[in-house]
Amino acid sequence: MLPFRSAILLSVWLVPTCLASLSGQKRYDYGSDVHARFQRRQDYIPPIVTGLPSVDGHLPSRREIRELEKDEDLWNLFLLALSWMQYTDQAMWSSWYKIAGIHGAPGQTWGGVEAIPGNDNIGYCHHVSILFPTWHRPYLALYEQILYDIAQYIASLYPPEKRERFGKAAKSFRLPYWDWAATPPNGTTVLPLSMGGDPNIAVSGPNGVQSIANPLFSYSFKPFNASIFPEIPFNTWNETKRAPRPINSPAATSNNSFVARTLDSQMPSFQQRLYNLFANYPDYTSFSNEAWIPTDNNGTYDSIEALHDSIHTLSGGALGHLSIIQYSAFDPLFLLHHVNVDRIFAMWQVLYNDSYVVPMPAIYPSHTSAAGQIQDAGTALTPFFSDNDTFWTSDMVRDHEVFGYTYPEVSTKNRVEVVASINRLYTHYSPASIAMAHQWRQSRGNGNTAVTDGSRSRPDADRRSLRLPINAVFDGEDYYEWIANVRVKKDTLNDSFMIYLFLGIAPGDPSTCCEESLSPEDIDGLGISVAALGKQN
Ligand SMILES: *[C@@H]1O[C@H](CO)[C@@H](O)[C@H](O)[C@H]1NC(C)=O
Ligand SMILES: *[C@@H]1O[C@H](CO)[C@@H](O)[C@H](O)[C@H]1NC(C)=O
Ligand SMILES: *[C@@H]1O[C@H](CO)[C@@H](O)[C@H](O)[C@H]1NC(C)=O
Ligand SMILES: *[C@@H]1O[C@H](CO)[C@@H](O)[C@H](O)[C@H]1NC(C)=O
Ligand SMILES: *[C@@H]1O[C@H](CO)[C@@H](O)[C@H](O)[C@H]1NC(C)=O
Ligand SMILES: *[C@@H]1O[C@H](CO)[C@@H](O)[C@H](O)[C@H]1NC(C)=O
Ligand SMILES: *[C@@H]1O[C@H](CO)[C@@H](O)[C@H](O)[C@H]1NC(C)=O
Ligand SMILES: *[C@@H]1O[C@H](CO)[C@@H](O)[C@H](O)[C@H]1NC(C)=O
Repeated sequence: MLPFRSAILLSVWLVPTCLASLSGQKRYDYGSDVHARFQRRQDYIPPIVTGLPSVDGHLPSRREIRELEKDEDLWNLFLLALSWMQYTDQAMWSSWYKIAGIHGAPGQTWGGVEAIPGNDNIGYCHHVSILFPTWHRPYLALYEQILYDIAQYIASLYPPEKRERFGKAAKSFRLPYWDWAATPPNGTTVLPLSMGGDPNIAVSGPNGVQSIANPLFSYSFKPFNASIFPEIPFNTWNETKRAPRPINSPAATSNNSFVARTLDSQMPSFQQRLYNLFANYPDYTSFSNEAWIPTDNNGTYDSIEALHDSIHTLSGGALGHLSIIQYSAFDPLFLLHHVNVDRIFAMWQVLYNDSYVVPMPAIYPSHTSAAGQIQDAGTALTPFFSDNDTFWTSDMVRDHEVFGYTYPEVSTKNRVEVVASINRLYTHYSPASIAMAHQWRQSRGNGNTAVTDGSRSRPDADRRSLRLPINAVFDGEDYYEWIANVRVKKDTLNDSFMIYLFLGIAPGDPSTCCEESLSPEDIDGLGISVAALGKQN
């Protein structure tokens, strides 16, 4: 596989010299069978989503993955816990296999929550539904709780002199999020190297530094049961894949550098769409999901769900697990992506605190509900128990703090702070930025090599999306924005699809346009033009 940026790859992946020689060993070797000991303790049934305790009266934040990586102790605990969960026996309720399997395939019954007749081969998740953001909230809390428990246990395995330090770190463990809309640090890609750079990763644990299978790179089924993914090529792959090549081959490998390039080229679009959702979608119904609501106004075809879809399809690529709702949760990227979606939801809630779930008919069935059934703020978010015999509802999860976490941007729930964060993170491709890039190029054109505007350089000023003719954007004090609202029936092709819009002349065969043959700079032209992937009626 090609490195994304060779300099970065080297600096991050310098492997410590003291690697234990564990040929074939892909999970961390703790020196004794700690897994079995831990497993015996995990007997509470049904699994209740309790949320996590605060630490010294404060709720720890879920942090951006690149921030977490800078916190060495927590980063190592996270990798070890994630890997542990992926190596937990697939039959256990808390295994990666079982928890990912709540979402879609294999259509299992989890926690004893039975399917309604005829729906036993589909998952519990809600999409194209008023419950899209709220159902995923306790789902993520369940992942968080399982990983937290494992992290506490791993911390206890450190030698006595380190135990207190790691015990303290483990208490503040929360899931990381992956912010795919923020401009990544200079010289790096939207997809962090930790998630796609290498199938192996060095971790420092209670038994020293070892190289393990990178739990953020893929999930390997243990064992693989081909009948849960009946279609070719999925039934030949014992591991999740992103942008798999050669396509349809049992020997396909993930091409994460392709995924990274594609995400980079689309990041200006993610940013603009996200900004637009924060600025112009005050109503929960249109913000939250991609169903067409009959009374909805025609200007709000986008939604956080539609934007979330784009990340799925671009990260999975054609025939990657992430591109298929029913298969997507097995890829570890799903978890970090959805934590970011939950964070965006929490930020939006601070801005528009009075708008929330209203009754709407479900478009699709789920494990426990039928299409057409009315869903509202009191609908049980199955299979997530809040105590022995009741389920969480949207009303109960309205405040994310009920699960014992927060996010950096919403820790004070202060509107001004959320707005400041949005302006800091998501305006690099705004009209003002286009104007700044224009000035920068002009000053350069005048032989002025200094970077302009006092504080900010514009190393990316030559990106296509910042190269619009200035008078096409500005008209005196006003500026123009173009939003292409595309209305399609999602299911027409019975599969995932992308819609490309071109500024200018489309290539002769548009189907070949946007994968291998175009440079990122060319694809970048689409940054401003790819809009919502439609709503469903
Ligand atoms: C970004 O990185 C490039 C190449 O690594 C370097 O030339 C440039 O000065 C950097 N820009 C900033 C703002 O750090
Ligand atoms: C494989 O999955 C199918 C469908 O979920 C199930 O019926 C079968 O028992 C599984 N086989 C094994 C060996 O687990
Ligand atoms: C997964 O599939 C690959 C390619 O077919 C094979 O080489 C590998 O041994 C398999 N791994 C396991 C754990 O079955
Ligand atoms: C992976 O993607 C990169 C970047 O798009 C491309 O240059 C390379 O040929 C691809 N590799 C394979 C094996 O398809
Ligand atoms: C939306 O557009 C359709 C077709 O142009 C029109 O018939 C309908 O009245 C519009 N609805 C609203 C709420 O603007
Ligand atoms: C929304 O407002 C309620 C009542 O004022 C408050 O309790 C809650 O914390 C607020 N939620 C957010 C996300 O700002
Ligand atoms: C929940 O069920 C367990 C096992 O049946 C029982 O021990 C526990 O007391 C119950 N908790 C509550 C709050 O009812
Ligand atoms: C999609 O599936 C339906 C029902 O199985 C079938 O009638 C239709 O022809 C399919 N459409 C396409 C484009 O394959």
